Amino acid sequence: MSIVDPKNIVLKAFVMPPDLNFHGTLFGGAMLAYLDQAGAMVAQKRSKSRVFLVAMNKANFMAPSMLNDSITIYGKVAHVGNTSMTIQLEAWREDPITQEKQLSAEAEATYVSIDSNLKPWPVDR
Ligand SMILES: CC(C)(COP(=O)(O)OP(=O)(O)OC[C@H]1O[C@@H](n2cnc3c(N)ncnc32)[C@H](O)[C@@H]1OP(=O)(O)O)[C@@H](O)C(=O)NCCC(=O)NCCS
Repeated sequence: MSIVDPKNIVLKAFVMPPDLNFHGTLFGGAMLAYLDQAGAMVAQKRSKSRVFLVAMNKANFMAPSMLNDSITIYGKVAHVGNTSMTIQLEAWREDPITQEKQLSAEAEATYVSIDSNLKPWPVDR
């Protein structure tokens, strides 16, 4: 089910020249960093704690993001375990001139709630 809903917007960014690959489109690693940052924000909000990324379960890239595009990352909690949370993520690109929007990437990432010793800590305490 799509998570595209204004209430699920976690992060907005612009595709800038330092983040381009040799095709002139957004480098996949930069997109993964955006997805990870957004997922961590969702997980921290849910657990009210610091979190570690423990697994990027899947990441699919559907359409290249172009220079000057805006990127909107939507995120939603998909599953809560004892100390872990799985977050569903979608990255949509938008051409600021034509306002054309496209699903650029989607991912599912698992985070672990951690205490001040960086050890797993229950999400619901
Ligand atoms: C996160 C970390 C503290 C977890 O420690 P751990 O000893 O593996 O903890 P556990 O085995 O008790 O697992 C903790 C939870 O994570 C889940 N988990 C662990 N590995 C997982 C994986 N590969 N995929 C999905 N879930 C995983 C466990 O199922 C458990 O979930 P639950 O408590 O909801 O049942 C440890 O793995 C770690 O420090 N990893 C490095 C994190 C990091 O550097 N990330 C990048 C920077 S943010």
